[in-house]
Amino acid sequence: MCGIIGYTGRRNAEQVLVKGLSRLEYRGYDSAGIAVINKGDIQIRKKQGKLSVLMDELSHNPAKGTTGIGHTRWATHGVPNDVNAHPHVDSGRNIAIVHNGIIENYKEIRKRLQAKGYEFVSGTDSENIAHLVSDCYAGDLYKAVKKAVSMLKGSFAIVVIHREEPGRIVGARKDSPLVAGLGDGEYFLASDIPAVLEYTRDVIYVENGEIVDIKDGGITIYGSGGKIERRDPTAIKWDISQAEKKGYKHFMLKEIFEQPGIIRNMLAERVRKGKIKFEELAIPEKDLKRIKRISVVACGTAYHAGLIGKYLIEKIARVPVWVDQASEFRYRDPLVDKDTLVIVISQSGETADTLAALREAKRKGAAVLAVCNVLGSSIAREADGVIYTHAGPEIAVASTKAYTAQIAILHLFTYFFAGIKGTVGKEEKGFLREFRKLPGNLDKLLGPYHSAKNRLAGYAAEFHEYYLARNNKSCFLYLARNINYPNALEGALKLKEISYISAEGYPAGEMKHGPIALIDENPWVVCVATNAQTHEKMLSNIQEIKARGGIVIAIVSEGDDLLRDESINYAIEIPRVPEIFSPELVAVPLQLLAYYVAGEFGYDIDKPRNLAKSVTVE
Ligand code: F6R
Repeated sequence: MCGIIGYTGRRNAEQVLVKGLSRLEYRGYDSAGIAVINKGDIQIRKKQGKLSVLMDELSHNPAKGTTGIGHTRWATHGVPNDVNAHPHVDSGRNIAIVHNGIIENYKEIRKRLQAKGYEFVSGTDSENIAHLVSDCYAGDLYKAVKKAVSMLKGSFAIVVIHREEPGRIVGARKDSPLVAGLGDGEYFLASDIPAVLEYTRDVIYVENGEIVDIKDGGITIYGSGGKIERRDPTAIKWDISQAEKKGYKHFMLKEIFEQPGIIRNMLAERVRKGKIKFEELAIPEKDLKRIKRISVVACGTAYHAGLIGKYLIEKIARVPVWVDQASEFRYRDPLVDKDTLVIVISQSGETADTLAALREAKRKGAAVLAVCNVLGSSIAREADGVIYTHAGPEIAVASTKAYTAQIAILHLFTYFFAGIKGTVGKEEKGFLREFRKLPGNLDKLLGPYHSAKNRLAGYAAEFHEYYLARNNKSCFLYLARNINYPNALEGALKLKEISYISAEGYPAGEMKHGPIALIDENPWVVCVATNAQTHEKMLSNIQEIKARGGIVIAIVSEGDDLLRDESINYAIEIPRVPEIFSPELVAVPLQLLAYYVAGEFGYDIDKPRNLAKSVTVE
């Protein structure tokens, strides 16, 4: 799970590579490095730590040349240090490579190459590729890469250069993403589009098993059998400014504030003349009509969105829904067949476990529908049908806008599907009337948080003081019921990810079965007590916590009596809506609370430790 880039053209390669890596840092930031060809030599600069450390090194020790490769790493094999940082070179320093993925047969390859005299210096699986390409090289880099990748097992996207072939970069992919950018007399290869968008909008998605050979000012794509593939570039419509911070202190905050606009656009795109439309869906309505059960598969935040989808689909479309974490799904021989619709949800569209689950579901004959954010991603392409969330690039590692967009898409899909199943008729109109209020309600909810001094920021500051005063003993519990229970899991996940504070999410009804033992004056307990059929029950849970000295942050609907209840320590209101329309709204204060708490602790909010945006390893 790393970011890779390659460039050849007329520009200073160092600058293009570093700029590109800055857009790929969300994929990993344990180390960064570049290799540039200069006068028959390969100059390597690589450093442990974030890209800024490499930039500092380059300011003293620049790399000159117009062809090069770059890498930003999220360590899998070998600790993060300078030696394990990419690019890796072969023993003769003729070849340099960058790699994203995992080479499963690296031990066997290493043994074979060591026997031939190749010297390994790093603890990575990737270094094997440099020596292997070198071993296969007989004067033509494409041929050497072709031979080398045929011996690799595992997943990879690689870009390779040879010191005697300036102006040539060769890329290959299997199960890790790679795109080619086509500029004016210049070419790029990268893990993701934002890395090249500043220079070109024309990209070609490299398919599994393909090799890209860029040389003499031209690009050739070879299919797995070595046949030349002809493919028109896709013009990217979104702008690089969508991937910038636009004056917000962090990408996470910017992305939280983008949520109303995303839902507004979704409505404009998906609802025409009072009807919900999914033009790119590609699974015929007659196939959806005969579906008997749905299995939702996803990881992390996307899994929580899937859990909300279960409540929605079962309630409205009356079709049973199972929700699995993708990492568990395929190992339990899941009961999916041709009567099952498998919905895989993934922001990045590259999550290895979700992709593996998709393949397993297809193998078992199920129709697979992907809910994805990244256009042309592996999951989007391999699924039978896709619905894009169109939330724009999500840069902060902690997912926010993609989550609410996933829930909103599942809301729309539920009514669309229920229409096909015949479980709703006129109600669709009522649903749309209420759903159309969502962007306005999100605006209203976010309004008070535009200034840095706001209620949630204040609560976060008080928590920070409390935490320090208790020698770091405090933690968080998140409680909710029914359709908002997955939001309790998500609120806890957000806090854990960026604040490194222990946090658990529970269905509030489970409290008495164990977690209540945690309650004393230490934990802060976030209780979702919005307008709902279980409101009274949540009030009882709050009393149970208060009676045991716990500190309560209540999330309530506007006008709720709890806002005036002095025994409640903290209360946050959201617009009053029917319960089924509340998850997108409840998610927002939970995101903001996590954001402000992390800010109080001074952590790197957009790049939390040990995490990466796109988890392309299992
Ligand atoms: C949490 C987060 C992760 C992702 C998970 C799945 O903030 O971002 O839990 O939700 O890694 O990623 P995608 O949706 O890209 O498959």
